[in-house]
Amino acid sequence: MTLKEIQAPLKEHLEKFNAFFSKTMESRAPLLNTITKYIVRRKGKQMRPLFVFFTAELCGEISQKTYRAAALIELLHTATLVHDDVVDDSDERRGFFSLNALWKNKISVLVGDYLLSRGMLLSVENEDFELLKIVSDSVKTMSEGELLQIEKARSLNIKEDVYFEIIRQKTASLIASCFSCGASSAGADKETISKLHLIGENIGMAFQIKDDLLDLDVKGKTGKPIGVDIKEKKITLPLIHLLRSSSYLEKRKILKVLKKHNRDSEKVSELINKIIESGSVDYAEKMMDEYKHKALASLSEFPESDARKSIEKLIHFTIERQH
Ligand code: IPE
Ligand code: IPE
Ligand code: MG
Ligand code: MG
Repeated sequence: MTLKEIQAPLKEHLEKFNAFFSKTMESRAPLLNTITKYIVRRKGKQMRPLFVFFTAELCGEISQKTYRAAALIELLHTATLVHDDVVDDSDERRGFFSLNALWKNKISVLVGDYLLSRGMLLSVENEDFELLKIVSDSVKTMSEGELLQIEKARSLNIKEDVYFEIIRQKTASLIASCFSCGASSAGADKETISKLHLIGENIGMAFQIKDDLLDLDVKGKTGKPIGVDIKEKKITLPLIHLLRSSSYLEKRKILKVLKKHNRDSEKVSELINKIIESGSVDYAEKMMDEYKHKALASLSEFPESDARKSIEKLIHFTIERQH
């Protein structure tokens, strides 16, 4: 199922949301204005706002607060992507040049901070303190996750449990907050909010495993460069599996590519082939499926509804997507 089909029931809300979202970024400063316009024109999949809206519907009704929750999360998501491309030294995002490719690192760091503060102001001005609390907590966790990842990339000996901890922090925490913020915006009780938060976390885990797989996917239409994870010595789930199933000598060879030839595109694509041929992609897909099933099983405890069906479709899309 395509994203467009999943979005269909929210068509009117999403049109209004997009106008609202652009407005939350507006600035009178000319350079900022040029850059935020550039960002707004190159939208991502906007899966996080979709999760927020459908969860609000699952728990009650979409309100103005739901719009603010979705905008807050998409703003912070955008801010972290802008910073992430600086950290990963990546020059492509959403099929176009990344901000750092066009305006360099200094400006990108400042624009990321600007987006972060616009998000926080949006909540403060409307006294959405519970939303702000949920989201600030995940942004803190995301920074910790990205730092843990850098720390582990140095040593290269990362175990699977550390990997899962990193992705829980850097990706799953924000997707979890889509669910708790959506629920909170519709007035759900505490127990429901935390149940949905956990569902979001499991979806977020599957989401990042898929992102790792797409980094290896030459046929993928990600709009991001391929092989950045290897280039940045990021230890992803397929790579962990490959290292674990390799002999001592093979392992040394792989580590050498990661340490010494990680910028050599030919060596990187050889390593990518090795990952694919070794069954490591299949393994990662299996783990991704487990998280998907966990999320679907908990979601099935909610009464059947259109909103629940839409969330289920979005969960399937998370792992089937090609971008
Ligand atoms: C990319 O997220 C960052 C990760 C957490 C893997 P998305 O794949 O949702 O990015 P956009 O917003 O659609 O570009
Ligand atoms: C997701 O990790 C990082 C964030 C939480 C922003 P990646 O570095 O793999 O994300 P992409 O692949 O660049 O989108
Ligand atoms: Mg990156
Ligand atoms: Mg990635």
